[in-house]
Amino acid sequence: MALFARNLQKCLCKTTNTGIWSKSNIASLAALSEEHRMLQKTCRAFADDELKPMAAKTDREHLYPTAAIEKMGDLGLMGITVPEQYGGAGLDYLAYAIAMEEISRGCASAGVIMSAHNSLYLWPIMQFGSDAQKEKNVAGFTDGKKIGCFALSEPGNGSDAGAASTTASEVGGQFNLNGSKSWITNAFEAKASVLFATTSKDLKHKGISAFIVPMPVEGLTLGKKEDKLGIRGSSTCMLMFEDAKIPKENLLGKPGDGFKIAMMTLDGGRIGIASQALGIAQASLELAAEYASKRLAFGKPLTRLQTIQNKLADMSLALESARLLTWRAAWLKDQHMPYVKEAAMAKLAASEAATLLSHQCIQILGGMGYVSDMPAERHYRDARITEIYEGTSEIQKLVIAGNLIKEMGL
Ligand code: CAA
Repeated sequence: MALFARNLQKCLCKTTNTGIWSKSNIASLAALSEEHRMLQKTCRAFADDELKPMAAKTDREHLYPTAAIEKMGDLGLMGITVPEQYGGAGLDYLAYAIAMEEISRGCASAGVIMSAHNSLYLWPIMQFGSDAQKEKNVAGFTDGKKIGCFALSEPGNGSDAGAASTTASEVGGQFNLNGSKSWITNAFEAKASVLFATTSKDLKHKGISAFIVPMPVEGLTLGKKEDKLGIRGSSTCMLMFEDAKIPKENLLGKPGDGFKIAMMTLDGGRIGIASQALGIAQASLELAAEYASKRLAFGKPLTRLQTIQNKLADMSLALESARLLTWRAAWLKDQHMPYVKEAAMAKLAASEAATLLSHQCIQILGGMGYVSDMPAERHYRDARITEIYEGTSEIQKLVIAGNLIKEMGL
């Protein structure tokens, strides 16, 4: 906390830009602690001052935002829930959700880099790793200079995560990895991965184990950087293993626990992606409302036309309900209460809100929404992935219904 508080103080001194967001959210923030509100203000100012100005170029040129991610590391955002002992900011998951939204409001690519690193790489190691694994793979990964990734999906299985066919065979006190992982966020820059591979295919999901894989490592080849619709500042590529050898002590958790580790990691990750979606949705709402307040039609600003007011009402309703679901899921996680269903609900609602709001933002801007001079079309492209990664909307519905039926004892 000391590191975070120091950096926060530095940043608060130069906090200036608040935009319409501050007015519309003061009331809904009443329940947040002083620390959460300070964090939100700091991240919002950072997004306005540092991320928004570079987001278009990052997207256009597919640039990994190195400087921004390192500054996010200085702010404590690249190890936000990691205890200080391991170089993190030692904050809670609600803080993570709040910071993720603000960062993604400025640049959704920076948002997903932060999300995959914090919730998919650092979290499972902090949760299931030994002290030695934490020393080696968490400490030193919190300053934004070294990032991690999470390798679960494969060319032949995405939603059916339990069908992993990458193998890990124990040979001479080491694990030999063979197979391919696909759609891996951060893979191009990552210095390590939390990877899932099967030690026994017959056991299906019970044969999957989790491993920490240093990167690069002999026997691992990276595929091409995927040319994506959105979040183009983050890298996505395949990892191809051919007899890559990793030490036995890189097994994360117990043998056969990999599927549960992956599922539990994704439960928290979904709160991160929900928050990323909220940031995209918030940016779309601000843009739409600001544009509508200045653009005249039929002799008055668009904001005075009922049809536009209807849109703004639908947009803010979808956004604020999704935010409540997201913060509830984060809060439940912080209280160590069940949150699997709530995290899935948050991701489903927030990703659909991001799609709706970025779509309506373009509709309000008309032609100006369709060209890259304005960020509306980027928000629309960035929003789309939030309904796909870390479990599609269809998978979220399976998780929600499955947990609901269980809760009802049916
Ligand atoms: N927490 C703990 N354990 C869980 C769990 C959870 N959330 N969900 C399931 N389990 C356990 C079950 O209790 C069960 O345990 P037992 O074997 O002891 O009975 C076991 O796991 C198997 O459960 P299911 O039968 O429910 O598993 P399933 O094969 O039917 O799959 C699923 C369930 C929800 C569809 C799951 O496969 C899933 O979430 N799929 C989506 C995967 C996904 O999100 N992929 C995203 C890729 S990562 C990514 O996008 C990252 C990126 O780079 C940004």
